Parts: sequence; C-alpha cells; structure tokens
Amino acid sequence: MIIQENISLKKFNTFGIYAFAKQFSSFANVDELKELISYNNSLSNNQSPLILGGGSNILFTKNIDALVLKNEIKGIELITEDENYVYVKSGAGESWHGFVQYCLQRNFAGAENLSLIPGNVGASPMQNIGAYGVELKEIFYELEALNINEQKVYTFSVNDCAFGYRESVFKTTYKNKFIILSVTFRLHKKPVLNISYGAIKEELEKMNVPDLNIQAVSQAVINIRTSKLPDPAKIGNAGSFFKNPSVTKIIFDDLKIKFPNIIGYENNDGTVKLAAGWLIEQCGWKGFRKGDAGCNDKQALVLINFGNATGKEIYDLSEEILQSVKNKFGVQLEREVNVI
Ligand code: FAD
Ligand code: EPU
Repeated sequence: MIIQENISLKKFNTFGIYAFAKQFSSFANVDELKELISYNNSLSNNQSPLILGGGSNILFTKNIDALVLKNEIKGIELITEDENYVYVKSGAGESWHGFVQYCLQRNFAGAENLSLIPGNVGASPMQNIGAYGVELKEIFYELEALNINEQKVYTFSVNDCAFGYRESVFKTTYKNKFIILSVTFRLHKKPVLNISYGAIKEELEKMNVPDLNIQAVSQAVINIRTSKLPDPAKIGNAGSFFKNPSVTKIIFDDLKIKFPNIIGYENNDGTVKLAAGWLIEQCGWKGFRKGDAGCNDKQALVLINFGNATGKEIYDLSEEILQSVKNKFGVQLEREVNVI
C-alpha cells in the first residue's frame, strides 16, 4: 500500500482542473482496496474516500481533503453463454471504449451505440451511461461492489441498481456507500441493430457500407461524436454538463406556443424531454467565453476549460446558464457532472 501526499489531480480529470488530493492511492484488486479502506477508517476524520475512474464526469471546485482512490481493477473475461447471449465480466478499471472494442472484435452486440464514451467500466452504471438511443441498463447483467462500512462484497442485479435516465441507486440511496469492482454484461450473439436515433442512419448512408453490422454502427457513432463533441485530450470538458430536463405535456405545449422551434422528445410516461443544448443556445451561451471558462461552440450543453479555468469558474458559469434558462423558459436544469 503506497499513499502519496498532496497529489495534483489535473491529469486525473478530463476538465483538466488544478486541484490537489490530500492523499492519493490506487488499487488493482479487492484486497488492496480493503487495506486502503481500513487505513482510511484509522484516520478518524470520518471522511469517505473519493473513488476515481477516468475522471470524465467530475468537476473539482476545491482541493480534496480526503483519500482519493483510483480504481485500477483490470481484466475482461467471457463468463458463460447460452443460445442467444454471452456474459462478459469486466474489471471496473478497464476503459469503457476498450470494453466496447473487445465486444466489436468478437461480434458481441449491444454496446456499439455506446462507442467512444470516455471513462471506465466501473463508473458506467453510476449514471447508466447512454448515447444514440441505448442505455447501459440494456446490456447490464449484474455488478459487484464493496460496501465501504461493512467491507463486504454485494452483487447488484439490474433491478437493484434502479437505473433511470443518467441515474442509479449509487447516485441516490447508496451515494458514497459502495465501490464498484466489476460489471457483467449480457450481449447478443445475433445483433439487434439500433439505428433509429438521430443522425446514425444518415451517417451510415454517407459511409456507404456494403454490410450493415455492429462495427459499421460503432463507426457511425464515432463519426457523429467526433464531429460535435470536443476531445478531452485537447480541450478540458466532461461531456454534457446538464441533463436534458423533462416537463409535463401541458408545459411543453405551452412552451411550443411561445417558442415554436423548441426541441422535445416524448418519454414513455407521457412527459417530454427537452434538448437542454437548444435551451442554452437560445439564451446566447453557445461559444461564450469568460477567461478560460466557456461554452462549446458546436454543442452548448458542453462546458469547456480553455486552459486555466478553476473549477469554481466553471461552476459559476454553470450557475449563470442555469439561471438564464430558468428565467427565459421557466425550466430548471440539473447538473449531470458530479461537482465535488
Ligand atoms: P469518473 O468521472 O471518474 O467518476 C464519476 C463518478 O462516479 C464520481 O462520482 C466517482 O466518485 C464515481 N465512481 C467512479 N468509479 C467508481 C467506482 N468504481 N465505484 C464507485 N463510484 C465510482 N456520458 C454518457 O452517459 N453519455 C455520453 O454520451 C457521454 N459522452 C461524453 C463525452 C465526453 C467528451 C466526456 C468528457 C464525457 C462524456 N460522458 C458521457 C460522461 C462520462 O464519460 C461518463 O459519465 C463516464 O461513465 C464517467 O466515467 P469515469 O470513469 O470517467 O468516471
Ligand atoms: N442542440 C441545439 N444546440 C446545441 C446543442 C444541441 O440546438 O447547442 C439540439 C440538436 O440540434 C439536437 C438536440 O439539441 O436537435 C439534441 O442534441 P444532441 O443530439 O447533440 O444530443 P444531446 O441531447 O445534447 C445527449 C446526451 C449525450 C449523448 C447524446 C447522443 C444528455 C445530457 N446528453 O446529448 O451524452 O452523447 O445525447 O445520444 O443526455 C453526456 O452525457 O455527457 C453526453 C455527451
């Protein structure tokens, strides 16, 4: 067990924010993790450790006066299969896109629409990652997580996780109580392609692929993503900063009268999900920059650190955006990024 003191977290968060961890370590298996938790409990500061995956959905607004633990549990293995499915278990510290590529290489279908989402497998259930018409819950089978207080490993089924839009039990009831160790996925042997969302079909036509398959869908998703989302390796960001808010049908119809171009998609429960990027753009924020904090010029839902913005500057900008959307549309935005 090696504990480092006063470590810069800049390279551990895709926003590229300068923040320091009082203590920092990593773990490659559950025994190493238990040792670190015991150490943390002995500190008598009553602070839960902060678990880091790829740092692609986190905004540090201050130095972290706690033990920061980087999850490095590796390994992807085929557990079992039946007539229709394969069951693949991945260590929480594997990169998400690396896992998607593992599936693509073996023709295991279901993860292709989630190509190129940054971060690690262990964080994927935290907010039930989603993109291009697919959410993690559709390929999720179960996960193992360590209860921090009891130091005991529990298995969570899809129902236990209470997945919702960018939600799970790990962001609500069990916030800071469990550390995800591994995730097992159930993938199709015979692909069921999902190309109905957004520009996928159009992109596939442009690509002119002879055979429609999961590799082509993955490439189409990658092409669309790289055309509008900034690459965190080049410019600091954490993807969508806010969730897309839902309103009742009555409120939507009212908004549609006042703002005929408003973009909304009907949810299964009859409410309407609004495109937060459109709302933010209408408030004039797209391409905005103040110091090094700004709003992306292709996708207004993405806040940007142009270099040396502080987490507080990004947060303050998000607050101004949130207030302006509230004032113009009467709609309350909720942050998707985990603000620490
Ligand atoms: P981190 O940022 O390291 O952690 C996120 C949260 O989970 C933190 O609260 C952390 O404490 C906790 N956590 C992490 N690992 C564990 C663990 N093993 N056990 C317990 N808690 C843990 N998201 C989408 O859903 N769809 C997208 O299309 C999408 N596009 C993106 C595009 C860009 C350019 C970027 C930068 C981000 C995007 N995101 C998207 C957000 C992000 O990639 C996902 O939320 C991703 O799952 C975060 O993974 P991570 O390992 O980086 O998590
Ligand atoms: N739009 C605008 N102006 C903008 C941005 C978007 O008018 O500045 C419009 C677009 O033209 C489109 C609609 O809003 O009609 C939706 O935009 P887009 O397809 O880019 O998707 P999104 O709703 O903004 C969501 C997810 C993304 C995910 C994409 C693709 C959320 C909060 N975001 O974005 O996830 O990749 O759909 O499925 O649900 C993330 O979570 O970090 C993330 C990037």
